Amino acid sequence: MKTELPVGIINRENSGLKKLKPDIPRITVGLATCGAAVGGTAIYERLRESIQKRNPDLSLVPTGCIGYCREEPIVTVAHPGKPLVLLNRVSVKDCDDILNAVLSGTVPHDKALCRIEEWDHLMGHNITYGRGFDEIPLYDEIPFFGQQKKVILRDAGIINPEDIDEFLAVGGYSAAYNALRNMEPDTVLEEVEKSGLRGRGGAGFPAGLKWRITKEKKSDKKYIICNADEGDPGAYMNRNEMESDPHMLIEGMILGAYAIGTDEGLIYIRAEYPLAIRRLKHAIAEARELGILGENIFGTDFSFDIQIATGAGAFVCGESTALVASIEGRTGRPHPRPPRLTDSGLWGKPTDLNNVETWCNVPVIIKNGSEWYRNIGAEKNSGTKVFSLVGDVEKVGLVEVPLGTTLKRIVFDIGNGGADGKAVKAVQTGGPSGGCIPLRLFDTTVDFESLNAIGSIMGSGGIVVMDEDTNMVDIARYFISFATGESCGKCIPCREGLKHTLILLNRILAGKGTAEDLDTLKSLSETIAATSLCGLGQTAPNPVLTTLEYFRGEYDSLVKL
Ligand SMILES: Cc1cc2nc3c(=O)[nH]c(=O)nc-3n(C[C@H](O)[C@H](O)[C@H](O)COP(=O)(O)O)c2cc1C
Ligand code: SF4
Repeated sequence: MKTELPVGIINRENSGLKKLKPDIPRITVGLATCGAAVGGTAIYERLRESIQKRNPDLSLVPTGCIGYCREEPIVTVAHPGKPLVLLNRVSVKDCDDILNAVLSGTVPHDKALCRIEEWDHLMGHNITYGRGFDEIPLYDEIPFFGQQKKVILRDAGIINPEDIDEFLAVGGYSAAYNALRNMEPDTVLEEVEKSGLRGRGGAGFPAGLKWRITKEKKSDKKYIICNADEGDPGAYMNRNEMESDPHMLIEGMILGAYAIGTDEGLIYIRAEYPLAIRRLKHAIAEARELGILGENIFGTDFSFDIQIATGAGAFVCGESTALVASIEGRTGRPHPRPPRLTDSGLWGKPTDLNNVETWCNVPVIIKNGSEWYRNIGAEKNSGTKVFSLVGDVEKVGLVEVPLGTTLKRIVFDIGNGGADGKAVKAVQTGGPSGGCIPLRLFDTTVDFESLNAIGSIMGSGGIVVMDEDTNMVDIARYFISFATGESCGKCIPCREGLKHTLILLNRILAGKGTAEDLDTLKSLSETIAATSLCGLGQTAPNPVLTTLEYFRGEYDSLVKL
């Protein structure tokens, strides 16, 4: 079985390895949106100018986000043969100290967060950095990092997302190469089916089954689409996946296209994600240049290419039928299903739509096998999930854990509990349509079924923590106000029902509500959920229903009983 990459690509892979582990010091600056937003760009520029002036022998490279957003800006330093050292909360005024330390063969210890001696990129490529700097904690000794399992985020914050060479150096595109050369499309599909991978966009539909349904449709043309709309307040996992490791998504889509049998894919992404769009476009151009996208990929008779379609950032356009309408230039409004996209999707052709993270799971599954993948996570919930842990939590950031991990572990062991020493009261999972889960239910495991059983949803992976000062009725009002503003207005239960829900919540919060209003709130919410046309209306009442169930006392104290 020939699995070696072609010579041209091997040369680029070797060049990538030299960049990742050069024989001169390498400095990186985390430049995903989170790092850039807190000064990463200015740090990068300052380091670049100083390096230009002093002309030392070292490399400076932008990376994505390593996940610990609270500690950004994060700069890393790797001396040849020594561990990769993460420096946290760096500012422009630290740049001279960093450069001076690096030029004297060390690192600024007062800024050091942890060190990495070796890193498994999970695609058959470990990077061994080296030993030394023993006084700096190891990466795994930092509770925020040590309790995670990085599968999707394996390259994030380490490789340069704008350099295909570095992606190749950590095993990137080897799964696609091997599949296209040595596996039948059906075998790729079967591996994904056996892996148990479920869609990461919210509903948890088995990815392999959706692929098979699309594959089995008879049509002269089929499409695959990546849903990168990600409009939930507090959620930014997909943005980071694209900003930090865009080639991983492209590789997943190549494998999906090959398994399903299509030559055209689209990434639907909101225009509010300009950095992700720029990096994706750059990555697509790099892949085309190496023959990894386009005609006769890797010299095989399989051809496939990807276009980017940008949306204006309406939450409802993440819904599958609205998304297709938006790409086709129509108003982004849902229509009743059936027909499903797999029957009649983009331009009326069978279409497979998957979330960014769903696609990103595919290369590791094909590389390591479905059995390897099934060993991560829980029964019927294999693999990991990336969550954005935000709100009133001490350690804000992107957290990747096996499905089946408890909320307690995520919020307390990884997030270290409430910010500023405050007590945690609840979390909201699943974005604006998720439920508010009280502290007493934090032993709940994060998987599709367990979250549904307590009135919430997985959604695409936002976890918003609320502390003891939070007024849960006000939280319900915030999310209903969001959903009301995002409702497309097509169906009455959602359009009118949410408006009236908001009126009721405002009245209750103003101290003018009655006990009867609480009954109306509940029955109205149940009616909206049961009768709305699309997922937006069907799930929008969740914050009201769960706060009524779990925090009833807060409503009672506001109304005249
Ligand atoms: C209002 C609404 C917004 C949605 N937004 C997104 C989104 O931003 N990203 C996403 O992947 N799925 C979103 N979905 C779910 C998609 O409709 C679809 O189920 C998903 O993209 C399928 O991919 P998956 O099977 O890989 O999860 C949304 C659904 C609704 C009802
Ligand atoms: S449920 Fe809401 S968002 Fe969905 S179609 Fe109806 S009005 Fe539009």
